[in-house]
Amino acid sequence: MSEKLKIVFAAAEVVPFEKTGGLADVAGALPKALEKLGHEIIVVMPRYYDIDRAALEKLPAPLGVPMGSRGEFWAAVYKTTLLQSKVEIYFIDYEAYFGRSGLYGDAAGGYTDNDERFVFFSKAVLQLCKMLCFTPDIIHANDWHTAALPLLAKTRFVHDFAYTASVLTIHNLQHQGYCHKSIVDVMEVGWEHFNPHELESLDAVNLLKGGIAAADAVTTVSKKYAQEIQTPAFGFGLDGHIRAHSHKLFGILNGVDYEEWNPASDSYLPVTYDVDGMSGKQVCKKTLQENFGLPVLPEVPLIGFVGRFVEQKGIELIAAAIHGLLDHDIQVVMLGTGEQWAEAFFSEVAYHRKNFALHVGYSNALAHQIEAGSDMFLMPSLFEPCGLNQIYSLRYGALPIVRAVGGLDDTIVNYDAVHGTGNGFKFYDAAVEALYHTVLWAAGVYRNEKEAFEKMQRYAMQEHFSWEDAAVEYEKVYRFALERKNGKET
Ligand code: ADP
Ligand code: GLC
Repeated sequence: MSEKLKIVFAAAEVVPFEKTGGLADVAGALPKALEKLGHEIIVVMPRYYDIDRAALEKLPAPLGVPMGSRGEFWAAVYKTTLLQSKVEIYFIDYEAYFGRSGLYGDAAGGYTDNDERFVFFSKAVLQLCKMLCFTPDIIHANDWHTAALPLLAKTRFVHDFAYTASVLTIHNLQHQGYCHKSIVDVMEVGWEHFNPHELESLDAVNLLKGGIAAADAVTTVSKKYAQEIQTPAFGFGLDGHIRAHSHKLFGILNGVDYEEWNPASDSYLPVTYDVDGMSGKQVCKKTLQENFGLPVLPEVPLIGFVGRFVEQKGIELIAAAIHGLLDHDIQVVMLGTGEQWAEAFFSEVAYHRKNFALHVGYSNALAHQIEAGSDMFLMPSLFEPCGLNQIYSLRYGALPIVRAVGGLDDTIVNYDAVHGTGNGFKFYDAAVEALYHTVLWAAGVYRNEKEAFEKMQRYAMQEHFSWEDAAVEYEKVYRFALERKNGKET
């Protein structure tokens, strides 16, 4: 096996082209780190409606994508490079599937043909490799959207990918690509794979389940989450299936793109700062309070939240605790969008409480400004495969208050008053009281134990979660996958 690997990396969203969550951050950063290790890597994503074709280069030939019982569909392909890199990213352009207002759904809910859309995309990834004469050593699929890839490569496309190993990364087990079994005829993988050990769940197809079975290696985005998904509490019905494949399961913590998330050079901030000069953080706090209409009070602990308003992020816990918390002398700023009840509920809280502010929507600039202006950052997730915001918070000196799950548990060390150590505050039970008391504990440390708080801030701001380290781990997994693949064939 040659040292340098050829990798095709497929993802439904990639920064800076499209992002709804952390998957996009990973897909925009990990391939660059892999390329720096000397590997040849291409990235593929769908061209959604709002990705401007004019800014991309169009490939001369269209791409034929066989859709089994549906016939052959023709897509256009565009390309450019990832930000500040030479890594090529290809866009599969098929208006009927991706020329829509949302990525996965709209106000009416998830698109009902999501299975077809992403099976089409997965097949297009393989067809594109053929068209480019790019025979990869590794196909790297991400989440349910591209989870069909490992099985497709082993069946329908086996002639062209006989020596290619596949790796599937689970960023979030909650979404599995559960769909009608008729998709098997579109996939053309053969009905023998429609069985409870591979694609089948309750007489329907579960794309992620099939991907876990077919991949030569499976990864998830923290070590703790790799353990958790093998238990009923976090397995979303797939814990048994994952346990059966645990011999090829690895947890690799995500890194951070410190070119984007760095208070010393962040262009979204009114003033930059770093661990040796923290006065700028006070200015960021003041500006945040002003911009959000909060009383400008430098001594009052300010707690930030940025994230999707969905159950995963613990928004129900926050909703249940918020009025009690706001009775204390603290301020809370929230940025997010998602479930309607949550948007409405928190809007009402913002209307009634002077120490609470909210922005409903998606804003990268505000996300940066909240990290910089907050003293603490709240992330009480019910489950959290990795979580990026708490890692960004560390660098910005906004000490995370988290529930000890998944990547939150792996990255946050609880404050220990006796030894003066830690980088944040943790609680364990998914209970309102636990959240409430931990927030007040953290606020108390901020007010009354200034020295300890500042020591934690300094420590947190110097921690480094690098993509370089993660890429080295992925490389090991790639080699493991290739060995398994070759082992099977000899
Ligand atoms: P998840 O992928 O589960 O949403 P992560 O913490 O891994 O959680 O990543 C979320 C990413 O999306 C972070 O980069 C965060 O800053 C960003 N984000 C989430 N909601 C918003 C929002 N409303 N505005 C701006 N950025 C957001
Ligand atoms: C998912 C997870 C999040 C993780 C991200 C990137 O969206 O919810 O915890 O950080 O993927 O891997």
